[in-house]
Amino acid sequence: MGERARRIGRTGAGLAACAAALAGLLGAAAAGGAGSGAGGGAGSAAGREACAPGDARIDGRIDGRIGGRASEGGAISDAQAAEYERRLRQERVPQRDRGEGRTVPVVVHVVSAEDGTGDLSEATVRRQIDVLNRAFGGGYGGADTGFGFELRAITRTADDAAFASVGRRGSADRAAMRRGGPETLNLYTADLGHGILGRSTFPQDYADAPGADGVVIDHRTVPGGTRENFDLGHTATHETGHWLGLFHTFQNGCSTPGDYVADTAYEREQATGCPSGRDTCPHRGGADPVDNFMDYSDDACMERFTRGQAERMADHWYAFRVGKGH
Ligand code: ARG
Ligand code: ZN
Ligand code: CA
Repeated sequence: MGERARRIGRTGAGLAACAAALAGLLGAAAAGGAGSGAGGGAGSAAGREACAPGDARIDGRIDGRIGGRASEGGAISDAQAAEYERRLRQERVPQRDRGEGRTVPVVVHVVSAEDGTGDLSEATVRRQIDVLNRAFGGGYGGADTGFGFELRAITRTADDAAFASVGRRGSADRAAMRRGGPETLNLYTADLGHGILGRSTFPQDYADAPGADGVVIDHRTVPGGTRENFDLGHTATHETGHWLGLFHTFQNGCSTPGDYVADTAYEREQATGCPSGRDTCPHRGGADPVDNFMDYSDDACMERFTRGQAERMADHWYAFRVGKGH
């Protein structure tokens, strides 16, 4: 009981910080007093990171709070995850070859300030794509997911207003930049402020909001960027995991069905830093998957997607993305 109270306390703090970041993003006063907790600084990693998965929520129409308790450490509720799962199950996932490669065309939209802040070189963009290929190919030690990423184009926009706003809900700039169909990964780099590192939509969001589909990352998170502990490019890896249908490893905490992936251990809450050997759900699959790309650990700590995650991403790819364009 005491344990549960502590958990709730921590979760509450995380959500407050998250709400503060969202309030800034949305320019809304709706979060009430939470804004005062916003300037957390480097120490408030948990709260800071708690926001990110919210993208799907920011871009989607489903409020993260409907249908049950707020998720622990994550911005999509367990009820919302269940709803996404229901929509996946309702699709017919076609047969596929196990060894079949899946190539994702990528368009990178570099949005920068007029003074050049945030402008990324083509070499940096290519290094980011290389990180995606290495991560999804098992090059850091995880499963080879069969996904590969091919840079098709880079667009550049130097505009102060867009730099600050392209990550916001319903950004018209972002929709105008977007290219391709549901199979094309539109990866935007911009200033997301200090509250969040990145965000993504889920495959199930595409049909209702194609213009919002994609991944947004803070420009400082690219390989060689200036975001301390998050400068190896795995914010894009993590967000692309969401874009292909993955939830956080700590979704549903220690409770079934967790992250809906059989071969990732249950985890009560997000990891911060790199707490190797941590086991927050004893007897639920082993030590916490803090080295998984879908946790909140530092970039240097993350090294794997599992075979089960690879299958789940392939399911979403065939159900919602490849061959689904018009
Ligand atoms: N917290 C963000 C999200 O959930 C991104 C986490 C990225 N983590 C990292 N080590 N780069 O979307
Ligand atoms: Zn996330
Ligand atoms: Ca699992």
